[in-house]
Amino acid sequence: MSLQREVWPSRFAFISAALGSAIGLGNVWRFSYLAGKYGGSAFLFPYLIALLLLCVPVMILEFALGHRFKTTVIQAFQNISDRLKGVGLLGNLSSFIILPYYAVIVGWCLLYLYHSLNTPWVGQESDFFYSTILNLSPGAFFDFSLNIPLIIAVAICWIVFYLCISRGIAGVSKVVSITVPLPIIILFILLVRGVTLPHGMDGITYFFKPRFDLIWDFNVWRAAFSQIVFTASLGFGTMVAFASYLPKKSDIVKNSLITVFLNSAVSIIAGAVVFSTLGYMAFKQGVPIDTLAKSGPGLAFIVFPKALSLIPYPHILSFLFFLCLLTLAVDSAFALLETLCAALVDRFPRYSRSSLLIFSTVVCAVISLIYTTGSGLYFLDVVDHFVSDYLLVGTVLLQCIAFGWIANTEEWRRYINSISDIRIGSIWTFSLRFICPLALIILLSFSLYSDFSTPYEDYPQSLLWVGQGVCLLAFIVSFYYSFFSSKRNTQ
Ligand code: TRP
Repeated sequence: MSLQREVWPSRFAFISAALGSAIGLGNVWRFSYLAGKYGGSAFLFPYLIALLLLCVPVMILEFALGHRFKTTVIQAFQNISDRLKGVGLLGNLSSFIILPYYAVIVGWCLLYLYHSLNTPWVGQESDFFYSTILNLSPGAFFDFSLNIPLIIAVAICWIVFYLCISRGIAGVSKVVSITVPLPIIILFILLVRGVTLPHGMDGITYFFKPRFDLIWDFNVWRAAFSQIVFTASLGFGTMVAFASYLPKKSDIVKNSLITVFLNSAVSIIAGAVVFSTLGYMAFKQGVPIDTLAKSGPGLAFIVFPKALSLIPYPHILSFLFFLCLLTLAVDSAFALLETLCAALVDRFPRYSRSSLLIFSTVVCAVISLIYTTGSGLYFLDVVDHFVSDYLLVGTVLLQCIAFGWIANTEEWRRYINSISDIRIGSIWTFSLRFICPLALIILLSFSLYSDFSTPYEDYPQSLLWVGQGVCLLAFIVSFYYSFFSSKRNTQ
């Protein structure tokens, strides 16, 4: 039976699934390294602005779309106007691009979890990450040597993702009842440990004390906006698909607010965990916390394990941390897989859901092999950069324009208010029509300007083409689909 006709057993099950998708590696790994890179609290202000300005209105939009049309994102946009189906397709393509590398990061977490009981990285954290786990060939941008332990870890992850969703909504509800609360409980345990460490509070101050010195740095705003889109799983169609299984009487606004705020609360707690522990490490090593925090994507896999190794019981703390990362990531990964599978079920009704699920799992698993090679980290880095800064931001921009200018937004607002306790005012319409598009256009222009003036991370153009090519291809395919593909009606 297709997932489509099922209904969530309760509001709790729906919120858990939405949160399961939203709360993921983005909240711990991505959020903390971006916050560190952009000066801790200096990042927090743009992040909160992005949350209110963009995340809240767009989440309401996506939930409403799914709830009203009871279908996946392509068909939902197509119901507004046939030409808009490409906007929905962009979301599906983003899932298809992100899932393979997301699965590989889950694979890293699994390997770290496996090693955490004897923490072999102590004293050589950086080497352990780059050589033992990644088998990275430094400076070799097209080295396709295989890394068998990582491939095995990633293969296990794919099997788990497949099993999680192969049983439909009932299975998903069961899995998320563990994978949503467990990491949050672990984060609280780590938080208590962090803030009770000597100088742990210095890290907390670094993270929370208001600082506006970077307010004119556009890079901070760009990172904050693309982070909000990534972390709340906006633009992918996942939230639309999940909301399509809601019962008729569902409070869209309340559900959106709960999802958005809990998701960001988890990011902020994770930030507090990371920075309090770094505060202790800075004190122990006699270095400024800034230098530790600015370590980039290696923060969760190099600097943080190193910090944990300075605390009593490092094995237990490392085990808890990587278990937290793993459980956070699993439900996000299978939500991505489910989004893809649901789109295929819609598009190819002749085939059974189970065969389409196997097909999408296998195709994505094969693609993920690229990210396990000797140059895997470079590919991952460029694809993540271009996809989150252009494809995701571009998709959400198009969604806002489609919804704000082509759909009858005021009529949608009445629809949402008719089923929600909390009523939304005309500010919602105004945001979708003006504020969000304007903010996103400025961001996109700035991203283009800065990527043209300095190549990302000074990578060679041949490597940058991988990320640019993938994004460009997604936009071209969607454009073609919107304007040149024949009209199809599955409803
Ligand atoms: N939000 C997830 C995270 O923070 C990642 C993600 C982005 C995602 N888009 C998604 C997960 C779509 C599920 C579905 O890690």
